[in-house]
Parts: sequence; structure tokens; C-alpha cells
Amino acid sequence: MQDKLFEDIIDNYDTLKYSLLKAQTFDESHYGFPEIYYKIMETDKQRVDAFHKAFTLNNNFKGATVCEVGVGTLPLTKLYMPYVKKAYLIENNPDLVPFINKEIAKHPWADKVEVIYADALTVNLPEKVDFVVGELMSIYCANEFQVQIFQHMRTFLKPGGKLFPNRIVNFARLCEAEIDAEIHHYPVNFTRHQPMFLTQQFLVNEIELLKEKKQGVRLSFSVPVLFSGTVNALYLESYVEVTEGSNFTGTDSLMPPTVLKTTNTQEVKAGDLVHIDFSFDYGSSLDEISCVLS
Ligand SMILES: C[S@@+](CC[C@H](N)C(=O)[O-])C[C@H]1O[C@@H](n2cnc3c(N)ncnc32)[C@H](O)[C@@H]1O
Repeated sequence: MQDKLFEDIIDNYDTLKYSLLKAQTFDESHYGFPEIYYKIMETDKQRVDAFHKAFTLNNNFKGATVCEVGVGTLPLTKLYMPYVKKAYLIENNPDLVPFINKEIAKHPWADKVEVIYADALTVNLPEKVDFVVGELMSIYCANEFQVQIFQHMRTFLKPGGKLFPNRIVNFARLCEAEIDAEIHHYPVNFTRHQPMFLTQQFLVNEIELLKEKKQGVRLSFSVPVLFSGTVNALYLESYVEVTEGSNFTGTDSLMPPTVLKTTNTQEVKAGDLVHIDFSFDYGSSLDEISCVLS
């Protein structure tokens, strides 16, 4: 059975190249992500465990007042709810309302919850909280409003309060990718769909969510080339510190390494220095990242 499954995957490698892209693309008819994406996220043990470890490292939030934004199907919520004093749970996808209400009612902690169906960019809380949890991440924080939401939500933190996650570090490599004309970026699901790397990994920017004031990134820098070829894409990676001691470096469900076309292509030789002018706004679109090579 397992051999057959593996063989089926191998037979379908090519057709699966953009399936993760499809699963993670905003679906208007579903007021958000397709249902399959919630399944991919919920079943991703590595992603959920990174948050679980972070909650455990903080005494399981024992006796705390918590606000979680973008609760989705509640996989993170269930981990800390038994221990907290009170939780404000925020979600703005109307399709999830019946599920969330039904699910909460099943648990003995239901009376500690206040569900707020609202936009976390503008929501008001009736009191300050010890912790804000929010997993609304996308690679580089480009597609989702993780940064702007935390800029708003951190105003509701008590002194010494914490954000989960608290830090995101973005890396890139220049590469030569086989990427179809109509595709601008795709998350990598199988190593077979990785591009050829022409530089080593370099740091692009670091976002400390408690302090970040900027709305985006404007950078100009040079990187040395290791292999000759044609640069036509970036390979993006985001590493996340959920809390100090609990880190997450991306999986297929969340912040998968992503191949993104550069604004222009450039022939390079091993030993060259390539100059990059890089800019984008948080919460805009990956496809609006400008990466000009010279
Ligand atoms: C990446 S999913 C994570 C869901 C859940 N926290 C989990 O870990 O599985 C992000 C969730 O945030 C919700 N969301 C996105 N933007 C939001 C906003 N501005 N206000 C409230 N919820 C939002 C989405 O509808 C989605 O359910």
C-alpha cells in the first residue's frame, strides 16, 4: 500500500509541481483559503509542535489572559485553553463561524472564551492581555498581514507581554529555475522542483514583531555568485522564532521555500558580484516583490 502510494507520487511529480500553490492561494468563493489548506495546516505536526513547545516554555500560559488572532480551525487554541484564565479568539473568515462555535461548545473551557468575528487589523479588545498568538504567516510576510496585525495587536499587550511568534528572519538565494511562463512564484513541495542555486543563502531582513515599525522592505546590496548561469528567480525562505527556544524553519503547510521570478534576468559568471535592488510591502502580494538585478 505504501509502495503504491509512493509510486503514485512519483508518477505525478510533474502535475503536483503547482498543487501547493493552488492550495495556498486566496479563494474568494471560500472567503479565504480552500478547505484543503486548513487540512494541510492542521495535520502539520512540525508546525503545530513549534507553537506547542513555545506555549510549554511559557508555563503553558497558566492563569494568563490571551488573545489569538486568526484562530482558523483551532489547532493552536486547544493547546493552551485548558490552562489560561481567559481568551479572546478572533477570526474573520465567515465560513468558519459555525465550525468554531460548535467546536468550542464541546470543551469544558468554553466559558473562558470570547469569540470575536472581526478583522484583526482594526479589532478592539475590552482589556489588555498577557499574550497575543497569531499564525497568519506567509513567506516573507508578503501575502498576509502578520506584521500589520501584530503592530495593531501589540497595543493591547500588558507591560512585559509577549507575541507568538516574535521574530521572523528572511533569507534568499539567487537561482536558475524552470518556471512556467504564466507562473510568477511557487512554493516547493518536492525537492525535485527546487531550482539550481547560483549563490549561497543570504540574509535579507529580520522582523522583530514587537518593535517593527516599517511597512515593508527597501534594500540594495550585492552578493557573490558561486556558479555561472542565468539568474531568473529567487529562492525565498523564512525562519520563525515562535518564542525564544522554539523555532520553525518552514514546512509545506507554512512558509515553504518559495521560488519567485526576479524582475529581470541576468547572465552571471562564477566569481561575479550581482547587485540586487529589493523592495516589497508586508501584506501586499508576493507577486509585487520587486527584485532588480544588475
Ligand atoms: C494561516 S491560518 C492559521 C489558522 C490557525 N491559527 C492554525 O494555526 O491552523 C490564518 C487564519 O487567520 C485568519 N485571518 C487572516 N487575516 C485575518 C484578519 N485580518 N483578521 C482575522 N482573522 C484573519 C484566516 O481566515 C485564517 O483562518
